[in-house]
Amino acid sequence: MNTGASRIEINEVGPRDGLQIEKAFVPTDEKVAFVDALSACGYARIEVTSFTSPKAIPALADAQEVMRRIQRRPGVIYTALVPNIRGLERALEVGTDELNLVMSSSETHNRANLRMTRDQSLAELVNILQAAQAAGVPCNVSLSTVFGCPFDGDVPVDDVLRLASRLVEAGAAGITLCDTTGMAYPTQVAGLCQQVARALPGIPLTAHLHNTRGMALANAIAAWQTGVVRFDAAAGGLGGCPYAPGASGNVNTEELVHMFECMDIHTGVDLQALLAIVRGLPQLVQREFSTPLLAAGHRLATHAPPAWLAERFGPA
Ligand code: COA
Ligand code: ZN
Repeated sequence: MNTGASRIEINEVGPRDGLQIEKAFVPTDEKVAFVDALSACGYARIEVTSFTSPKAIPALADAQEVMRRIQRRPGVIYTALVPNIRGLERALEVGTDELNLVMSSSETHNRANLRMTRDQSLAELVNILQAAQAAGVPCNVSLSTVFGCPFDGDVPVDDVLRLASRLVEAGAAGITLCDTTGMAYPTQVAGLCQQVARALPGIPLTAHLHNTRGMALANAIAAWQTGVVRFDAAAGGLGGCPYAPGASGNVNTEELVHMFECMDIHTGVDLQALLAIVRGLPQLVQREFSTPLLAAGHRLATHAPPAWLAERFGPA
């Protein structure tokens, strides 16, 4: 087996990807408290919100207030999703450390999600990259649907390579390969990560995985084996794109951390602190959902043996 790096970085996207699809509006105070609690867990980055149209994403209409009110912890990079120039202006007004620009690699998802053609989005992002550079704010670009589009099916690898290269030429400091609706499978993930890494040497790649079809952790291992060290993940496995039919949750941060830590791959994230937050998530989003790792605990959270064992066999 190929082995990847012994240290990875996790970008917590729960406050953004996690909350964007929730029906119940999470009050601003609670969003701020959620981000502040996450700040104590040891993440490299937290994607705090998105500066999108409040009509498109009403759940995050309070983006500026949230970004203004969170407590910035030294060492954590606070980032936000930005789809257009208006979003850039709003992000800069409230001092966002780093921007995560977004467009889709497939035509139909880009039109449905961003109401622009891919060419229009590309032109918009190139302008944003220029303006952000002038403002001294680094930008990553998330390319949605690279492993499959819920409308168009498989996306030609050449489209992904062309867009990623163009965006890097225009100043993107990193590229995120997004499996928007969990269509990716491990050999595909490994193949695309390798091709993009070869085309863009020295550009950090992030894997953004959804667990729609139960393959997110397997896909994470496949990406890691090719050398990817950055992963987006959402606490509790919340998340999904409201403009992608059938979208469901991101890879669970706690499962990703637990898996990599079992393998002696350092994530920097304090699993117990994170699980304490995950316990409160059903209340935050006002609905029940299953959090399997919280129920099962760490793999070495063993149980007391039944009392009758000692009676029958004596003390162990
Ligand atoms: N922040 C706040 N408001 C914005 C905005 C932004 N980034 N961009 C546009 N708006 C406002 C405009 O001011 C305008 O307001 P008005 O109706 O009061 O005049 C309205 O939204 C429409 O603007 P327009 O430029 O025509 O946008 P649009 O309706 O074509 O939508 C996007 C384009 C990109 C703004 C919108 O589709 C969007 O925000 N999509 C994000 C989807 C998303 O986040 N998906 C999940 C993550 S992948
Ligand atoms: Zn996502």
